[in-house]
Amino acid sequence: MYKVKLHARGQLFEYSCSSTVTPLQAARNQFIPIPTGCKQGGCGMCKIKVLEGEYSQEVIRSHEALSDAELENGYALACCMVPKSDLHIITAEDYAKTEKVEI
Ligand code: FES
Repeated sequence: MYKVKLHARGQLFEYSCSSTVTPLQAARNQFIPIPTGCKQGGCGMCKIKVLEGEYSQEVIRSHEALSDAELENGYALACCMVPKSDLHIITAEDYAKTEKVEI
């Protein structure tokens, strides 16, 4: 079981996530308000920036939801990834607001 630190909606949440569950599903299972849409890599609602940690991102995704450039820059889709270590993540929305603030 890994630990996930998630910044979402201006708050910090900490929860656990196994290596077989997406951080999105684990958050929802624990009633943590993570932005959620299609859960299939198609809409980009769950886009996050990975600040720390290892993960595996499913290759199957819409390029409109997550571009190759975003993937290379540490963005991921929380509905299409699994952790391979503890994770420190922030929603793309929160990251855009706090990019210049120390996290
Ligand atoms: S919820 Fe739609 S891409 Fe993740």
